Amino acid sequence: MTLKTHIGGYQKVTGFGFYSDKVIDHFQNPRNVGKIEDADGVGVAGSESCGDMVQITIKVRDDRIEDVKFKTYGCGAAIAISSIATELIKGEMLEDALQVSNQDVVEALAGLPPVKMHCSLLAEEAIKAAIADYQNRMRNDTR
Ligand code: FES
Repeated sequence: MTLKTHIGGYQKVTGFGFYSDKVIDHFQNPRNVGKIEDADGVGVAGSESCGDMVQITIKVRDDRIEDVKFKTYGCGAAIAISSIATELIKGEMLEDALQVSNQDVVEALAGLPPVKMHCSLLAEEAIKAAIADYQNRMRNDTR
């Protein structure tokens, strides 16, 4: 059985396709939205199946993620995932941020419907790409 309610103009569906309150909160009030203009690392990930994209920009100091922002062109789940993923890595050491998996992100959101699990990969991939970009820049910095 499916029960539908409306929350702040968005439809919450319980039963199949249930979105947790955390998903709805991060979709309606995404944290760390935007782009760091003088970023130390930039990562982009896209889904071939739906065409959605996530961009992560990071500022790094002493191997710690001092600041992080995201821009997401995609579904509500991808926006919520990007938002909470930035919260999970902000202030973390790079080696710890690299350990954040899509499963960690899904757990932090109190779950996702099975049909939306692929969306959770985008933030993880974009974070790893941003850190790899930072590390490449450091290797190529010949100062
Ligand atoms: Fe494409 Fe969610 S449907 S990321």
